[in-house]
Amino acid sequence: MSAHNPQPIDPASVPQRTLASGAKMPAIGLGTFGSDHITPAQIATAVIGAAEVGYRHFDCAAVYSNEPEVGGALKHAMASGVKREELWVTSKLWNDKHAVKDVAPTFEKSLQDLQLEYLDLYLVHWPFPNFHPPGCDVTSRSADSKPYIHENYMATWRELEKLVDRGLVRHIGTSNMTIPKLELLLRDARIKPAVNEMELHPHFQQPELFDYVRSHGIEPIGYCPLGSPNRPERDRTPEDTNPLEDPVIVEIAREHSIHPTTVCLKWAVQRGQTPIPFSTNPKNYTSNLRAVVEDPLTSDEMAALAGIDRGCRLIKGQVFLWKANQTWEDLWDVNGVITPA
Ligand SMILES: NC(=O)c1ccc[n+]([C@@H]2O[C@H](COP(=O)([O-])OP(=O)(O)OC[C@H]3O[C@@H](n4cnc5c(N)ncnc54)[C@H](OP(=O)(O)O)[C@@H]3O)[C@@H](O)[C@H]2O)c1
Repeated sequence: MSAHNPQPIDPASVPQRTLASGAKMPAIGLGTFGSDHITPAQIATAVIGAAEVGYRHFDCAAVYSNEPEVGGALKHAMASGVKREELWVTSKLWNDKHAVKDVAPTFEKSLQDLQLEYLDLYLVHWPFPNFHPPGCDVTSRSADSKPYIHENYMATWRELEKLVDRGLVRHIGTSNMTIPKLELLLRDARIKPAVNEMELHPHFQQPELFDYVRSHGIEPIGYCPLGSPNRPERDRTPEDTNPLEDPVIVEIAREHSIHPTTVCLKWAVQRGQTPIPFSTNPKNYTSNLRAVVEDPLTSDEMAALAGIDRGCRLIKGQVFLWKANQTWEDLWDVNGVITPA
């Protein structure tokens, strides 16, 4: 099986991030969330094709419901000559599996599905323990939703630390965290988070959190780096803006005869985050990888892009709200303190 891809890119030319542990992580990865409409088989084909063109970093999660297929694709890539140690594979613990008894079996299931002996990174997907059915509407609420309870989060985290001790995962990290929550985690963790995965694109630059994590030796991984143009309807609100249509991005793209997506990815890697764009289109995922190895943006262009932040969060997380009369901002501790239960 081959995806018959365009001209490959030498993985050695792809920028790398050096984590606090000293490990190297490719500074761009392939996302694998099919936004409810791309099948596991299509994503597996994209993983094979992406590995052929030079991707070595894959962002997976149990809740994407495609880890067995992605695992088959990774196996194919390794059978075709990619060494395990060249790969960076991330998975994530879903919200209904935070209970101490669930963490190790859930991790082991992902490891088995991905057909690997160890993972490079395992994240707590969201800091809220709560179940809601995949694909549910944003107004859906689970009757037993809970707020962030630090003691409970730490109990989950300690289980992740044990996975590191067992040699099953090289790094552990967070996703969708805020500064006040990270303050507590950094105070109490035996093994510090290596990364924080967070929404990052030119219309949602999160400068405060970005600077905070970097100053604490935590690498920012940026999801929805293109503004997730094909995200599910449930993740759209009328106020959302589209970075791909931003006049500054469109003009920079026009001057270089490149696509606005290319501008977003160059900006991301040059700024210092690790974008994980999703694509199943060989032309698109190849140009996304090529974007970060060729023709960097100028400092004037980077400055212009720093100026177009709209503070526009696309993935608001409404389903995690735990009581009536809340707004999604309550999930994100916008006043600098953890929103009271
Ligand atoms: N930790 C979390 O809570 C969290 C939350 C959301 C997402 N994520 C991760 O982040 C990844 C990326 O986010 P995302 O998939 O929502 O959004 P995204 O990467 O910003 O956008 C992906 C969309 O852009 C299109 N695209 C990609 N490259 C393109 C190009 N060069 N030209 C034109 N269109 C292009 C893709 O369509 P084609 O397939 O047609 O190219 C795809 O529909 C996910 O897959 C997932 O792994 C994590």
